[in-house]
Amino acid sequence: MPKSFYITTPIYYVNASPHIGHAYTTIVADVLARYHRMIGENTFFVTGTDEHGDKIAEAAQKAGITPKEYADRISDQFRNLWPELSVTNDYFIRTTDTNHIETVRNILQKVYDSGDIYFGAYEGFYCVGCERFYMEKELVDGKCPDHQTKPEHRKESNYFFRMSKYQDWLINHIKQNPDFIRPERYKNEVLAFLREPLEDLCISRPKSRLQWGITLPFDQDYVTYVWFDALINYVTALDYPDLDKFKMFWPVAEHLIAKDILKPHGIYWPTMLKAAGIEPYRHLNVHGYWNSDQSKMSKSLGNIVRPLDLKDKYGLDAFRYFLLRDMVFGLDSNFSEEAFVQRLNSDLANDLGNLVSRTITMAIKYCDGKVPEINLKEKNSALHEAALKTVAEVESGFNDMSLHKALIAIWDFINITNKYIVANEPWTLGKDPANKEKLTAIMYNLLVALRVIAILLKPFMPQTAEKILRQIGVDESNLDMASIKKGDILKAGSPLTRGESLFPRIVQEKENQTQEKKSSMIDLKPEIDYEEFAKVDLRVANILAAEPVPKSNKLLKLTVDIGEERTIVAGVGKDYTPADLIGKKIVIVANLKPVKLMGVESYGMLLATDTDKGLTVLTFDREAKTGAKIR
Ligand code: MSP
Repeated sequence: MPKSFYITTPIYYVNASPHIGHAYTTIVADVLARYHRMIGENTFFVTGTDEHGDKIAEAAQKAGITPKEYADRISDQFRNLWPELSVTNDYFIRTTDTNHIETVRNILQKVYDSGDIYFGAYEGFYCVGCERFYMEKELVDGKCPDHQTKPEHRKESNYFFRMSKYQDWLINHIKQNPDFIRPERYKNEVLAFLREPLEDLCISRPKSRLQWGITLPFDQDYVTYVWFDALINYVTALDYPDLDKFKMFWPVAEHLIAKDILKPHGIYWPTMLKAAGIEPYRHLNVHGYWNSDQSKMSKSLGNIVRPLDLKDKYGLDAFRYFLLRDMVFGLDSNFSEEAFVQRLNSDLANDLGNLVSRTITMAIKYCDGKVPEINLKEKNSALHEAALKTVAEVESGFNDMSLHKALIAIWDFINITNKYIVANEPWTLGKDPANKEKLTAIMYNLLVALRVIAILLKPFMPQTAEKILRQIGVDESNLDMASIKKGDILKAGSPLTRGESLFPRIVQEKENQTQEKKSSMIDLKPEIDYEEFAKVDLRVANILAAEPVPKSNKLLKLTVDIGEERTIVAGVGKDYTPADLIGKKIVIVANLKPVKLMGVESYGMLLATDTDKGLTVLTFDREAKTGAKIR
């Protein structure tokens, strides 16, 4: 019997259109669902919309339509967005669905019958934005701390859920299951809250004030408080009270939320479940907030980031990658398009994109366009060992919700593979037919590494993974972690095809603007025209010989080949020995007027930069031709 996995997102309010905050939670859920499906688990993934309550009623009124019409409109925006982001939810729930309404009424009746719902008077400060009453001491300067608005003073008779009765039980449950709420900081937040006496929860609204809700089964004059209604979606989606699906998925329920709704999920929901005779969920996974331009996203600040804008501009997988890589699960993150483009260019275009394109190009060239047949002895265990380590790190990232760590591990492997190319120099081996067997084995190992990378990336960047697999001729269905562990399983003879560049480098206005912005901050020299730059003749120089300049402690005399031999004198003697430099390909300015340094004539200047550990000279991360021009 395969294991089961149940993942939920919050059901989103239909009073505003989706932005990257909603997209983030839902994409994280999608990555988890895809991963658990990939490792063979029976997976169920639910998202949806939360449609009742004051907030929606108010928004509909403003729009001049009925709440149902309003809810239909915005709910559709969410429902239609998810496929655009390659989100593979198995079910989309709406709290206006008939089966949900029935389940809510069923649970209310059950809790009412057991005596945990009572009728009483209530007076307090109500924030419409939060849909809840505040205690006076919770207000900041008399205002709701989240919405900065003055709550209404309300006095009414209502139904209450005896939440206080379950306080001790909840504290014990959290203590006995230390990862019930994770990461730990949010568990601590809930426990801190539970140090104060828990009040009972008002779970109704009189119809005289609000009609847009689920009528209480035991009093026609009241509708259900929106949180009591909404939280129940997580069991409606499993057909509760029918137990077939429920038994399979509820014991492994993983809720995913942001910190804004910790209290309803960490306190109301487990106590409601307990009162209804249902076991608590397995884990509450809480992430931080995406801010934009260092502030909370809001219409009035005009800093709302829309997922489809980014998808259209940069591509879906780049967008998914950025969200997942940039946020440390549990902490807040700031969205900036500049940071996005930088990551896209460095991690995706440079590291991953180049690895795939150069591997495929070389493999086609050296292996006749096919996955080569190889002799077992030639297999490289270093790359395989690294792949196994990566798999373990990715698995642990998934187990404790650190998806950014899983991605870091995958990128470490990508870089190890890139270094494997540089270290083995297939282009040099390719010059001599005697190296054929070694070269073939290296190319085979590289193709296997691409397969590993594609499999590991599948949950995160499904389209990219598929493109890579297509290029290396893989069309198997058993693409999972177990098949990576088995090692070299590429089918000899499968066709290799060069695809389009996976992630073209983004050189766009934004980058130019960035430069302009930076010019005031980083002390750039005055602008020059391209023509002026083109006067500088930069060349690839191969260092043939190096020796210290007598009596100087930092100058080295280098003999370099740039298509012709010449001497240059360089001040790198403190950071490099002659032996370090011989054989390196570096960049020199070849048309500087000659100068004499400590008696030695220098016909050029090498390029280098300072680091914390001394100077580092510019070299190439791919084989460069001696004497080639640098543009
Ligand atoms: N309807 C309730 C949830 C009921 S669940 C039984 C609700 N809806 S919401 O539309 O406000 O969505 C809140 C959730 O959207 C957050 O918990 C988070 O998952 C996501 N996000 C909305 N804005 C966000 C950010 N700025 N950053 C990260 N996620 C955020 O609350």
